[in-house]
Amino acid sequence: MLNNIIIAIDGYSSCGKSTLAKALAKKLHFIYIDTGAMYRAVTLYLQKNNIDIKDEERVENALDDIHLNFHSRDYQSHITLNGIEVSDEIRQMGVSEKVSEVSAIKAVRREMVKQQQRMGESKNVVMDGRDIGTTVFPEAQVKIFMTADPKVRAERRFKELQGKDEKVTLEEVFENLAHRDYQDTTRKESPLIRATDAIILDNTNLNEVQQLEFVLEKVKPFTFEYQ
Ligand code: DC
Repeated sequence: MLNNIIIAIDGYSSCGKSTLAKALAKKLHFIYIDTGAMYRAVTLYLQKNNIDIKDEERVENALDDIHLNFHSRDYQSHITLNGIEVSDEIRQMGVSEKVSEVSAIKAVRREMVKQQQRMGESKNVVMDGRDIGTTVFPEAQVKIFMTADPKVRAERRFKELQGKDEKVTLEEVFENLAHRDYQDTTRKESPLIRATDAIILDNTNLNEVQQLEFVLEKVKPFTFEYQ
């Protein structure tokens, strides 16, 4: 039985999980934890240090040298990798292309899940990812499972990357999302799957305000004192 409140948000890539999670955290004064950023930072470390992700033993050993920290400013989460802020770098396509493979590695998941459970131990948190409601916090009071039309998701992510001057086509973004969805839902270790008690949120035709209202209504029984 938890003494704190956990809102778990899982779903496919680029569904707007982090947008919703940040808005919820801001509204409720909860802590926001972006677990995808952790897998991305691990991927970045492995790439920078030329560690072959197929060599599971080397990857497992490398985990001892990876220190991740979150700093929350204005409910935007900033992540540091061994003391250096990497929040922008981890969103680049080079990392996106490999992150699903890295996050399928058992030792990586075991370590990240352990750290995530520690972070949500005693505080009210909104945590987004792929396995929060099923593996990290199966006892979370509120679970949301997000989905949206793949084309709409690709367009949203494409716009976001264009704003960052990244040279990538809409087709490449679409392919990357499809690839990650496939890997995330079919991997052996805690695949992306809807927890049976998760509320489905399809935001294909919802804007940010509408999706926030939808979820605030659902979390009210647990968070009325914070709203
Ligand atoms: O949320 P995101 O797109 O930044 O996540 C990047 C990748 O990390 C995603 O393709 C799957 C993986 N991931 C995961 O396996 N488990 C989580 N809890 C969060 C992310």
